[in-house]
Amino acid sequence: MRQANKKKILYCGIVVITLIILLHPDMNARRTYEYIEKENILNNLLEEIAENFSSTALIDCDYEDVIHDETTLSISLVDGDLIEGHKIREGGEYAPSDCKPKYSTAIIVPYRDRAEQLRGFLVYMHTFFHRQHIHYRIFVIEQVDSRPFNRAKLLNIGAVAAMKAGYPCLVLHDVDLLPLKPANLYACTERPRHMSSSINKFRFVLPYLNLFGGAIAIGSRQYKEINGMSNDYYGWGGEDDDLYSRLEAHNLKLCRFEPDTSRYHMFTHRPERKTEPRHKVLSFSKDRMSSDGLNSLKYTEVATVLHPLFTHIMVDL
Ligand code: BGC
Repeated sequence: MRQANKKKILYCGIVVITLIILLHPDMNARRTYEYIEKENILNNLLEEIAENFSSTALIDCDYEDVIHDETTLSISLVDGDLIEGHKIREGGEYAPSDCKPKYSTAIIVPYRDRAEQLRGFLVYMHTFFHRQHIHYRIFVIEQVDSRPFNRAKLLNIGAVAAMKAGYPCLVLHDVDLLPLKPANLYACTERPRHMSSSINKFRFVLPYLNLFGGAIAIGSRQYKEINGMSNDYYGWGGEDDDLYSRLEAHNLKLCRFEPDTSRYHMFTHRPERKTEPRHKVLSFSKDRMSSDGLNSLKYTEVATVLHPLFTHIMVDL
């Protein structure tokens, strides 16, 4: 009897240890994809600052220290306050004053009904950017009508606003995602980049190679070239797969940074109901891309307000 119990305990122990090893995020992170090595990141970045932006600083900012920053930020920052001395201009724009930035990035966030999450996101992101020495501005595009959420159309609207403000690089970013590694530089690479390839929700594993949602970086010129995103995806899912097929059709290969640098925390929330029509819309993606996107974008701008931490564009789709 005693012998049998011992066997049982041993067996359970082995099962538990095997599960811990298999399910451990670090184990999963090793199952990886092709990525730009750390030492090649800077060579792959598009060095360009916004039209209308000039810096009086005498020296160029250094980004070597950024990409080699091994820190992992704590998500508890969402409950805190901003770092003192991080002088953000009205509309959520910032540029370092002690050095000349080489990159200007517009962060575009589609939004509706998540006030608490947005507050945490803004505090966290400004704190995160404080370590990156880039020039940036956060645009939040809020859908005020009651139709199903249209993420891609909101991103198109934000992209138009950011390009009008002269930004050469667009980061399209969900409000529920927080980058954990300051080494994940928010600047555009020569190729469009999938930034959030390692998310806690997916146990830090890339679910599929063509995934191009969550947080991505794309040059404004490239975004125009592919006619932006489709305006036809109402409800959850598919619009990012459609964006990927636009890249494919234009021979724009995506790139990524290594899994450890690309770690993100996703806020937990009720899972969205997946919309079925997305598969149908997606199957005609390539036929529609030249006539559905930036060149067919129609909406009503209800108001634009420059808040201390972000530019708030409210739209009726
Ligand atoms: C959806 C995408 C989504 C992905 C990961 C896919 O089935 O079409 O929109 O980003 O799942 O959740």
